[in-house]
Amino acid sequence: MIHSSRPAHILHVVGARPNFMKVAPVLGALGKRPAVRQTLVHTGQHYDVNMSDIFFQQLEIPAPDVNLSVGPGSHARQTAEIMTRFEPVLLERKPDLVLVYGDVNSTLAAALVCAKLQVRVGHVEAGLRSFDRTMPEEINRLMTDQLADFLFTPSEDGYLNLQREGIAPGKIHRVGNVMIDSLVRFLPATDRISLDDFPDRYALVTLHRPSNVDDSKALKGILTALLEVNQRLAVVFPAHPRTRQRIAEFGLNASQLCFRDPSPYLEFLALQRRATVVITDSGGIQEETTYLGVPCLTMRDNTERPVTVVMGTNTLVGQDATKLRRELSRILDGQAKQGTVPPLWDGRAGERIAELLCASHEHEHRSPSRLPACLDTTPES
Ligand code: UD1
Repeated sequence: MIHSSRPAHILHVVGARPNFMKVAPVLGALGKRPAVRQTLVHTGQHYDVNMSDIFFQQLEIPAPDVNLSVGPGSHARQTAEIMTRFEPVLLERKPDLVLVYGDVNSTLAAALVCAKLQVRVGHVEAGLRSFDRTMPEEINRLMTDQLADFLFTPSEDGYLNLQREGIAPGKIHRVGNVMIDSLVRFLPATDRISLDDFPDRYALVTLHRPSNVDDSKALKGILTALLEVNQRLAVVFPAHPRTRQRIAEFGLNASQLCFRDPSPYLEFLALQRRATVVITDSGGIQEETTYLGVPCLTMRDNTERPVTVVMGTNTLVGQDATKLRRELSRILDGQAKQGTVPPLWDGRAGERIAELLCASHEHEHRSPSRLPACLDTTPES
């Protein structure tokens, strides 16, 4: 992968909130290796202090070297804007490898630009599949995995999905879950966070998927179900900007719920850890609750993270209020689903990625540069 006469240059692309806790451990692990130089690009898909800046501070991520400041837009516009702004950065910075994370628009946009310029791409969190192509993230996952040269999977299902799609086994590396690396590292720091203002028992809620919040009837039904939950257990709801926008737009009223701004990383971990139950449609939160052993009710009909259902504490309830009520009763009656932590969710996934990339560097040490001609400006020796 990497030309032997200079340090390996790895460029990371992040853009949205769920990327930040994934890049932190990989940056950290590669940062310990003297033969590696790193560049961090933030696409600016998420731009609020609450959705971005505070995560950089708390996760101790260095300030991005480049910010593409793309901001909001339709899927096509946002993806295209990231591609347009990222291409000159790639041409100028000439990395040996680009690492992309998760399944957001920034992930696919960056991978596409790299593929066209023949720059190698590593996809961290490869192979996850909901098999639901109405989800924008599923399209991003499928396409990114087709383009990637290194596919780092968090669990066995990821490996099997990729094999089924014809990805060469040699490209697939089961490394574990980088998001759990951040959780393991920062969990002790949450001891310092006071939750005195919160009730002893509460349901922690996050919702932002288009299927739940962009349709007024669906969102109204969900809020009605949450108001019912709130009769039995206080609902704490740090609301994503998309969800807030939609509630206002549709003129819905659920002011009895405890709405809050999106929580910073450490505060949200502290809230999850102490929650009686978490009700969510997020991907990452299904994993974090499984690690923490906290019951999770996922308001989706499917999940790209089946290991959290099979091994962990996650139960899919869709938009079905009856199912939500039943599962909640079970939890409140002390019958919550018990789970175990999946293999390799041990806080060392970032290290495994760094090790693999450095081993690949070693392996190719004597090979000629793999940079495409358009990027390779290394003088002939
Ligand atoms: C994106 C990801 C999703 C991820 C989620 C986590 C895609 C396709 N979706 O969805 O996979 O789970 O992030 O948060 O990439 N907004 C703000 N402030 C911000 C960021 C967003 O107000 O800092 C607003 C935007 O203006 C937009 C809405 O929130 O109106 C949605 O943002 P967008 O980036 O389109 O996607 P998310 O719903 O956040």
